[in-house]
Amino acid sequence: MKPFSESCVQNQAVILKQLKLLCPHPANILEIGSGTGQHAVYFSKKMPHLEWYTSDRPENHPAIKLWLDEAQLSNLHYPFELDVKKSNWPELAIDIIFSANTAHIMSKAEVEAFFSRVGSQLQKEGLFILYGPFNYNGQYTAESNARFDLWLKQQNPDSEIKDFEFLNSLAKQSGLEFSQQIDMPANNKILCWKKK
Ligand SMILES: C[S@@+](CC[C@H](N)C(=O)[O-])C[C@H]1O[C@@H](n2cnc3c(N)ncnc32)[C@H](O)[C@@H]1O
Repeated sequence: MKPFSESCVQNQAVILKQLKLLCPHPANILEIGSGTGQHAVYFSKKMPHLEWYTSDRPENHPAIKLWLDEAQLSNLHYPFELDVKKSNWPELAIDIIFSANTAHIMSKAEVEAFFSRVGSQLQKEGLFILYGPFNYNGQYTAESNARFDLWLKQQNPDSEIKDFEFLNSLAKQSGLEFSQQIDMPANNKILCWKKK
């Protein structure tokens, strides 16, 4: 049976609304940490002008493949085996990198590797779109995020909500320029960087 993520159902329509504005033209989009594959199916169906490339660590591939096999969308592609810590990123001309709810799961070292790689993989003018909860100057934006962060750290001491300032300094080192922040429901944000 296909695994199911309730949070994907809750956030997919609001994320789609922003992705349509951010990605209006035909493009190759690589998703990092596709999870169940639900987002990939939903977004690629609603945005057929995008070639949507899924990826994740191998343990999530059976789930992603079940979702993709059922959807049968010609612009949606089987997952690449991709752990941000490793160097085997796909040899693809990538215009956009999208990732949802991954930075707070990853350790700081993984996020450093993630941003470094995004900078080298993206084409000039390429866009990096990161969705999730973020802190600003070490402060939570909401009490619910503080509770979520505590829960995250109980699951894995390396997981935590990351500071925007930390992410943006990694982005700068990687040749990415901050372009915009979009406030999203449930105290989440979309952060966008552009490859210079
Ligand atoms: C909370 S899930 C989010 C899944 C999906 N993007 C969503 O929004 O429902 C976090 C995802 O990050 C992936 N992830 C965690 N560490 C990773 C790493 N080092 N490299 C690549 N993906 C990683 C996990 O495998 C998982 O798919």
